[in-house]
Amino acid sequence: MDFAITLDSNSPSPLHQQLYEELRYCILGGRLSPGRRIPSTRQLAKSLGISRTTVTQTYDQLLSEGYIETVVGSGTFVCTQLPDDLLRSTPIPSTGKIARPPIKLSQYGDSLIKTEDVPRIAEPEMPINFRYGRPALDEFPLNLWRKLLSHYCCSDLQWLDYSRDILGYKPLREAISRYLSRSRAVKCEADQVLIVNGMQQALDLIVRLFIEPNNVIGLEDPGYLSARLIFQTQGAKLLPIAVDESGLVVKDLAHYSNEQIRLVYVTPSHQFPTGAILSLPRRLELLTWARQTGAFIIEDDYDSEYRYGDRPIPALQGLDRSDSVLYIGTFSKVLFPSLRIGYLVLPKSLVSVFARGKWLSDV
Ligand SMILES: Cc1ncc(COP(=O)(O)O)c(C=O)c1O
Repeated sequence: MDFAITLDSNSPSPLHQQLYEELRYCILGGRLSPGRRIPSTRQLAKSLGISRTTVTQTYDQLLSEGYIETVVGSGTFVCTQLPDDLLRSTPIPSTGKIARPPIKLSQYGDSLIKTEDVPRIAEPEMPINFRYGRPALDEFPLNLWRKLLSHYCCSDLQWLDYSRDILGYKPLREAISRYLSRSRAVKCEADQVLIVNGMQQALDLIVRLFIEPNNVIGLEDPGYLSARLIFQTQGAKLLPIAVDESGLVVKDLAHYSNEQIRLVYVTPSHQFPTGAILSLPRRLELLTWARQTGAFIIEDDYDSEYRYGDRPIPALQGLDRSDSVLYIGTFSKVLFPSLRIGYLVLPKSLVSVFARGKWLSDV
């Protein structure tokens, strides 16, 4: 053997690990050059005075990682192409690139490219920033959050197992359904609550489950840009419906009776961006319209946790008697948006199909 290997029996690292490191070092350093034959396990064990099992274990690891290869009848050799070479990325000069046919995206991919508003990464420093959707991060109760997190993470590890419940962590769903019925007059059981990665994922699921290209979605005008974008990228035909001081002008929906509207997106408790509250007569009118046409109403209740004094007006979902409302809420406002936790409250008949769609998109 013309390469030296030193093993230390007093080292805390097991012998097979030391031998592995030594051999790998010899290979990468070139002392065992590519294609070179290495001693058999018997020979090496004998020359190092260690058990053959230790050497076999080491060779197995080097084999599985692609440093050595065995050739039946000839012996064991250092591989000519080492895994470390493959992992080292050398930039390919653009002149050396081989042309490939143009990239063909789906209709959805194409519409994403045309999407107008990509999230802004950097914003200029301004004395007052009027950008919406940004919580007061400096007010966040970090210590309380840390304490709660460490308490609950230590006491119950069941929540780490996602596969247990595809609707989402059950105690969270139970807490949300209790909160919603107490504070928002939403009528639901925990098993109608689907935990989603923010409201945006809820909207994405809803559109994928209900909308074919050119199906019609009614939405408030002015309204929430991110909702409009998600509807647009899925190829829906958008029908802007005016908003006045009582919220969505519901009677305008009737003008489009031949349009077969499949979904209507509303922010009834605090219209985005005007702040109007959808009046009770309009709520009843909207629910009646949905029942008669078979359309679904997406109720975006994005910030009802906050009020200056008055109690928030109860959710539209609580008035619904024909299972026409898909209610969505978020923790982006009470906690922080990067948490990406929201919830979708579904009519019982839709729970299973939504749970499958959600599961498939993030298993
Ligand atoms: C009208 C409206 N809906 C929903 C959201 C929040 O959505 P998400 O849960 O995806 O953060 C916002 C956030 O700014 C909003 O303004």
